[in-house]
Amino acid sequence: MNKLYWDNRYREGETGWDVGSVSEPLKEYIDQLEDRGMKILLPGAGNAYEAEYLFLKGFRKVHVLDISTVAIEGFINRFPDFPRSQIINEDFFRHDGKYDLIIEQTFFCAIERRLRAEYAEKAFNLLNDNGTIAGLLFNHEFGKDEPPYGGTKEEYEKYFSPFFVTEIFENAYNSIKPRVGRELFFKFRKKRPK
Ligand SMILES: C[S@@+](CC[C@H](N)C(=O)[O-])C[C@H]1O[C@@H](n2cnc3c(N)ncnc32)[C@H](O)[C@@H]1O
Repeated sequence: MNKLYWDNRYREGETGWDVGSVSEPLKEYIDQLEDRGMKILLPGAGNAYEAEYLFLKGFRKVHVLDISTVAIEGFINRFPDFPRSQIINEDFFRHDGKYDLIIEQTFFCAIERRLRAEYAEKAFNLLNDNGTIAGLLFNHEFGKDEPPYGGTKEEYEKYFSPFFVTEIFENAYNSIKPRVGRELFFKFRKKRPK
């Protein structure tokens, strides 16, 4: 599940996860954000429709990160006005930076299961004090040996609870049609460092 794997998925057009526009739950979440000065990270952003939506709404400090050069090039081609300095072609687990908000959508389910605890810790380290991670996680298993890898609320709590306080964690009520009843919306706030 390396850069080559993801580059090939994009090259072959095997991108069943790509919903083609900002997804409804994230759009609704973004629409109630007020602080346009927030520094935001979209890890494993793919075609990054959410970044485009945020940027055009005036959230100028939104950053797109993806390990796939093909995905990144696709984003640049689609949205050439997006600041290049905010487009990061890197492995999330090697990324250094500080953000106020991380937005998750079908990235967590794309990483290998053994990296899940590390993802939660990495998100904690990438956030400023009081920072938030919010987004969507699948609430079921796919029963396949390749991404997406599903899970349960209980399992996810195990990874995130050492680092985050739960503000919202419930079945999404506004999912896009193919994902109705199949995903959880979450909003976790960074715990104070001990
Ligand atoms: C299932 S796709 C989701 C893309 C996007 N979030 C969406 O909803 O359309 C997973 C994405 O994560 C990226 N990715 C996988 N492993 C990564 C890693 N370690 N660091 C950064 N990006 C990664 C892939 O290149 C791919 O774009």
